[in-house]
Amino acid sequence: MDFQKKSRLLITCAPSLSQWLQKEIETLGHKVLLVRRTGIEIEGTLADSMRLNLWLHTAFAVLYRLDEFECRDPESLYRAAARLPWENIIPADEYISIVSYVDNPSINNSMFPNLKLKDAIVDRIMRKEHRRPDSGPERTNIVINLYWKDDRAWLYLNTSGNKLADRGYRRIPHKAPMQETLAAAVMMATGYTGQMPLVAPMCGSGTLAIEGALIAQNRAPGLLRSNYGFMHLKGFDDDAWRAVRRETMKAGEKKRPPRIIATDIDPKAVVAARKNAATAGVDHLIEFGVCDFAETPLPPPPFMVVMNPEYGNRMGEISQLEKVYERIGDFFKQKCQGQTGYVFTGNLDLAKKVHLTPSRKIPFFNADIDCRLLKYEMYAGSRRKPRKPGPVETQGS
Ligand SMILES: C[S@@+](CC[C@H](N)C(=O)[O-])C[C@H]1O[C@@H](n2cnc3c(N)ncnc32)[C@H](O)[C@@H]1O
Repeated sequence: MDFQKKSRLLITCAPSLSQWLQKEIETLGHKVLLVRRTGIEIEGTLADSMRLNLWLHTAFAVLYRLDEFECRDPESLYRAAARLPWENIIPADEYISIVSYVDNPSINNSMFPNLKLKDAIVDRIMRKEHRRPDSGPERTNIVINLYWKDDRAWLYLNTSGNKLADRGYRRIPHKAPMQETLAAAVMMATGYTGQMPLVAPMCGSGTLAIEGALIAQNRAPGLLRSNYGFMHLKGFDDDAWRAVRRETMKAGEKKRPPRIIATDIDPKAVVAARKNAATAGVDHLIEFGVCDFAETPLPPPPFMVVMNPEYGNRMGEISQLEKVYERIGDFFKQKCQGQTGYVFTGNLDLAKKVHLTPSRKIPFFNADIDCRLLKYEMYAGSRRKPRKPGPVETQGS
């Protein structure tokens, strides 16, 4: 497999994250060709995919397009896929896994196209090499993605393998943890760059504070992982990969960022957050504490507060949560005057109980829950006031 050959790269993400992913990709110097709801298309090589896998905070996977063809039924899928020179791509002693997204009237069992594609690949390698790779559901080695819509199909090498959202640091998830990629996008949406202190009360398993610390130190989240799909391809150059990792490590900021303070009322959450931060290598940058959010020790201003209270869909009673949201408003008003506070929530009725007017409402999805990141700018002497709410922002895609 030629790692320098250009093709279309489809970089996937969760719905609502594509505008943040687009910014990241452009910052890395790539020209964005197409923005989809759940992904961005650029042109690039497998060598480019190494850097992208290391650097992107908000992506799920970096997919390298192998082929696109007309595909009416499972037999045409088999025939078209068997024409590809798999023996030059996949070592015969490897392990492969197929992931497919199919929307075609001839298919009512989603396992069937996976099986057909897998057969096309292993039959071809068997014919050429007299040995064949193993296959199964684990995304630990070579992963092939199939997108099949109506009578067109696209085949991709999944250069990431396992989802990039699984950074590997969250060994102890605690309750209702935010996905790492979502937490990273939320921190990007706040504009946090590590230039001012960050306060994260209600930190749970610490995801927002940990993603904040990675951003503050310009640390590539992919360095936390040691296994990627591209490492299993024929032609993978370990020396080139080591060089990319070394260069990426060097880019990380060694300077200590301003204080990052993370607290939670639940001691078990703080134990989990501390361990997760240690696994991510940022525990020395975060000051943890167990307390009610309103008692969180605050640094001298200016600072930024980011909170992700429960929103009742998964846990907690609404009436109790109403009081919590009211108290968040009091905390902002009384202790964060002149500062900026953010609340990430999936319950806009509860958000109204904050009784402060958000200056921005940034839309997100947490799984299938419609969420908002609400920005509150507390000026000195800020008051509760029934000003007209700010407009809901729309996605760039
Ligand atoms: C939705 S979870 C936060 C999840 C977090 N973003 C993560 O990724 O793990 C809300 C957290 O708020 C904490 N919490 C609830 N009431 C609190 C209070 N009064 N003071 C501080 N923390 C509180 C809970 O213990 C829980 O860990």
